[in-house]
Amino acid sequence: MKKIAVFTSGGDSPGMNACIRAVVRTGIFRGLEVYGIQRGYEGMIEGDIKRMHSHSVSNIIQRGGTILKSARSMEFKTPEGRKKAYENLTALGIEGLVAIGGDGTFTGAKVFFEEFGIPTVGCPGTIDNDIYGTDFTIGFDTAVNTALEAIDKIRDTAAAHDRIFFVEVMGRDAGFIAVECGIGGGAEFVMVPETKTDLNSVVKSLKNLRKSKSSSIIVVAEGDDLGNADQIMTMVKEKIKDPSKEFKVTTLGHIQRGGNPTARDRVLGSRCGMGAIDGLLAGKTNCMSGVVNNELVYTPFSDCIGRTKPLNPDHLALIDILSI
Ligand code: F6P
Repeated sequence: MKKIAVFTSGGDSPGMNACIRAVVRTGIFRGLEVYGIQRGYEGMIEGDIKRMHSHSVSNIIQRGGTILKSARSMEFKTPEGRKKAYENLTALGIEGLVAIGGDGTFTGAKVFFEEFGIPTVGCPGTIDNDIYGTDFTIGFDTAVNTALEAIDKIRDTAAAHDRIFFVEVMGRDAGFIAVECGIGGGAEFVMVPETKTDLNSVVKSLKNLRKSKSSSIIVVAEGDDLGNADQIMTMVKEKIKDPSKEFKVTTLGHIQRGGNPTARDRVLGSRCGMGAIDGLLAGKTNCMSGVVNNELVYTPFSDCIGRTKPLNPDHLALIDILSI
């Protein structure tokens, strides 16, 4: 293998740049020519692919976002789109790929490898932490710390006015961010897509809590089965039926996706990026380079996509116990 290309796809996450840097520099260190594909699969289809050098990734380890930009490509879901992508890669003599992204990225990479056989290793880049085969995903730690900082601030004002706040964090299909912020921010409740939210018991507990506490923080993952934070707040308000209680909603949104990556995300991005190159050179393909129990491991894309990474039930129990 002499030439490889790297791209970022799906929702960006802080630490993707550290990962790109590790891929480029490890590749060059190991004697490869490295190319960068802009805007993920979109750039692959359009042939927006450029040679990268060691200096191309200077001064990026501390930056959020991705210097290669990212996109969610509809065209790559079609056989015609993938064929165009393959032609562009082979025209440049690219023999290996590093795909940095989440489950959508790996689903595309798996199909592409099965159709065209270009060896591909992935790196887990998503704030959601919902990828099987790695204890943490690149960007999760930064997103949690961003959300936590916001929750701390909300708690100040919530306490000052004796209000009940519903704070919505990202996580369409997974509650990892919500649970981590819930524990770290001392939330009274956390609502996540993985477990059924029992509105009546939340209302009952909130009424009891209000006897001993002046304010409450409820962290809601955006994908909760009962709806978003706004909808849940309305339902709770209607059931509590107490005009003296004030309810507020704060949706943190994309603020969680930006910002300088934490040390953990920079290190994780760097380790996974180096692992991707070393995996490709060792003949690995159709798998992801992740970190489990502090060891670099390779997990087949089929498991990364097909297996669900469960929330730790002890963490959910911890929130219940500590919020009394
Ligand atoms: O997958 C990462 C994520 O940030 C999810 O938590 C969120 O639901 C989604 O992306 C938002 O995507 P977009 O930026 O395309 O609206």
